[in-house]
Amino acid sequence: MQMPSPCLVVPRERGEEVRRLLLDQGLLNTHLRIHRDEKRLYLPILRRPPRRIPKTRCTRGLFESRRPGPPGDPPAASKYETVGDIALLRPDHSPEAAGAILRRHPNLKVVLRATGPIEGEWRTRGWEHLAGEQRLTTLYRENGCTFEVDLGKVYFSPRLATERARIARQVQPGETVLDLFAGGGYGTVQAARRASRVVAVDSNPDAILLLQRNLQRNRLTRVEVRLGDARHTARDITADRVLLDYPTGPLPFIPAAAHSLQTGGILHTYDILPEADIPAAPHRVAGAAPGTRWETLATRKVKAYAPRTYQVALDLRLVEKP
Ligand SMILES: C[S@@+](CC[C@H](N)C(=O)[O-])C[C@H]1O[C@@H](n2cnc3c(N)ncnc32)[C@H](O)[C@@H]1O
Repeated sequence: MQMPSPCLVVPRERGEEVRRLLLDQGLLNTHLRIHRDEKRLYLPILRRPPRRIPKTRCTRGLFESRRPGPPGDPPAASKYETVGDIALLRPDHSPEAAGAILRRHPNLKVVLRATGPIEGEWRTRGWEHLAGEQRLTTLYRENGCTFEVDLGKVYFSPRLATERARIARQVQPGETVLDLFAGGGYGTVQAARRASRVVAVDSNPDAILLLQRNLQRNRLTRVEVRLGDARHTARDITADRVLLDYPTGPLPFIPAAAHSLQTGGILHTYDILPEADIPAAPHRVAGAAPGTRWETLATRKVKAYAPRTYQVALDLRLVEKP
């Protein structure tokens, strides 16, 4: 049956980019088929996106149901993330699907649905319990390490596993690594398997407790854990490598990173930038810490954040500091 539904009309060449964005933000109506004509894609949406997306127009159209099955039909497994034994649904997923997910995947024990975006200094989000055991914690394996995850209290994204492994591979024996935004220690633990010394900082007390448990779980002893603000908490440290994993606002922390990094040392930082601004990203870093000079080793798009806007990873060598 065809149903009128609001949709976003997008030029075909921008279709995939906008589809992913709407999906990430829980705005795409995945129950309805996407229509296309020669020039445009018609993306069915649940509500109007909060930010204007250039070169798109909101209208109404006729859409067919994508899944004509009963309302309790679970979304395809590829449509939701899992962390350990927890399935994480997006806000647009139907709550009726939760029971069917557990029946179909006996290894999953909990189904949660996000109630809002990741927000605040500690980068956490709200979760609604839909089915299974009543908990927000689980065990999760990544790149040969085992981690405790607490979705209610500490930031975690399974989508950054590749990025964490990429950084860990670069760590050399003998190095001192400073992780200024360590969270539950998912990057810290992987770096600590190779470094001589790691200092890990986070301002969220629950992250620090979780990080300590994750260090014990992975039998790592060469890590010093500090609760506090990344700007002030590790000024006594001289590091060969600094991890600055705060993509939503890295620049205020660049001076602290440059202070602790010895000349020749490497900074791994992240930024959220429109595609056109990515080439200038290293200049933003230099501008945030006057008197510093950096050599760009690598620039990588980690994931899409908004239309033509990406979370970008920067690997920079500190060439000169005041
Ligand atoms: C994007 S998460 C990084 C998580 C971690 N690197 C990982 O791999 O999961 C950012 C972290 O920075 C912490 N944070 C936010 N502001 C901070 C500050 N001023 N100083 C230190 N940590 C801070 C948050 O608590 C959060 O754990």
